[in-house]
Amino acid sequence: MDFVYIRDIAGHEGAEAVLRGWVYNKRSSGKIHFILLRDGTGVIQCVASKSGLTPDQFAELDRLTQESSVEIRGRVRRDQRAPGGYELDVTAFKIVQIAESYPITPKEHGTAFLMENRHLWLRSSRQHAVMKIRHEIIKACRDYFDDQGFTLVDTPIFTPNACEGTTTLFETEYFDQKAYLTQSGQLYNEATAAAHGKVYCFGPTFRAEKSKTRRHLMEFWMIEPEVAFATLEDAMELAEGLISFIVERVLTRRKPELGVLERDLAPLEQISLPFPRISYDEAVRRLQAAGSEIQWGGDLGGGDETMLSGQFSSPVMIHRYPSAVKAFYMQPDVERPEVALCVDVLAPEGYGEIIGGGQRIHDHDLLLQRLKEHGLPNEPFQWYLDLRKYGTVPHSGFGMGIERVVAWICKLDHLREAIAFPRMLYRIYP
Ligand code: 4AD
Ligand code: MG
Repeated sequence: MDFVYIRDIAGHEGAEAVLRGWVYNKRSSGKIHFILLRDGTGVIQCVASKSGLTPDQFAELDRLTQESSVEIRGRVRRDQRAPGGYELDVTAFKIVQIAESYPITPKEHGTAFLMENRHLWLRSSRQHAVMKIRHEIIKACRDYFDDQGFTLVDTPIFTPNACEGTTTLFETEYFDQKAYLTQSGQLYNEATAAAHGKVYCFGPTFRAEKSKTRRHLMEFWMIEPEVAFATLEDAMELAEGLISFIVERVLTRRKPELGVLERDLAPLEQISLPFPRISYDEAVRRLQAAGSEIQWGGDLGGGDETMLSGQFSSPVMIHRYPSAVKAFYMQPDVERPEVALCVDVLAPEGYGEIIGGGQRIHDHDLLLQRLKEHGLPNEPFQWYLDLRKYGTVPHSGFGMGIERVVAWICKLDHLREAIAFPRMLYRIYP
């Protein structure tokens, strides 16, 4: 007999089925064992009664501990009161392994303990729900771009150049050369956009963030579109379209998981297009009025982002930051060269920046000048400068941090729960 996944149990009502999984919980009375079985697709209660098994078999079930692995055969019975609507009346079973005393019990554990046991913690219902939603978000991103004719082009992880400033580079040996772990696929995307028109990359990126915050990981996943002949305004439209597509997709397909997380759906359901757009100038005015110390010219701090995003029910797009606080490749506004044609998108409910991007410098000489101003060497950027010599065009794009989006949509306190194995300032285990 084929094995059945709990997700598909409804199709086997009234029939026998064999399930495989792990014991999530067990209650026993003298005559009945109630085994809560999980298999990754769902959880079902298996009812083993003394009358339906031999005395030896019934006693054998006493040995089952939390997380023991088993195959259980039984008759599928509909039960309105059961969580998934069905129960299994056990007729036979096979124990695969009796688990040792499992460290994560239904009682409360501290975060340090749970992080130390992250490889096991991932089996818990909340963590399971977060990973399902993360998967849905990634799938939504890819569908969004694929459906609009973008080409996925993977960019390298070892690079000779710094994209997002030299202070957060992870340096590594590359035979007899130095290399860095990529901070962003953007520069390579700019090359492939001139080959394909509309491209995106999706991969891990690395930042040696020396500060310990709930919004920063050393290794995070970023989805980055890049479009030839596109302006800042085009990038903003693409960004808001992407975010609203993701939110709608998760609301449609992952209500049960949002339920496990007890996520309030109203703030997600309220999100609507177009998103508010405010200039950096206005952001500073709003922040000063709300009591922030920020002065024109300074970058927004985490607290500033929280304050601003709390003022809007949809994500808010802040555009035209001072060039001085942004990366070397940002196109200046022709009418106000002191500001860059860039945008940060801040998620609501105080989550802060989830997207950063904008229009890139397409003029060769200006780019050369900016490299110099930022103290970056020309050599590793020769190929990047080349792009400005052979049919250069205005082009734009952005990067969206997947963990930031997962944290917001799942309403997590910290990015560490938004990825299976977070790399943090003081943690690289497990
Ligand atoms: O704003 P950032 O640094 O922009 C870039 O890297 C551009 N080159 C992207 C582009 O235009 N193609 O990073 C983009 C996003 C941020 O908005 C944030 O969501 C996420 O990446 N991010 C981080 N996520 C987790 N941990 C960190 N340390 C992050 N740093 C950035
Ligand atoms: Mg940024």
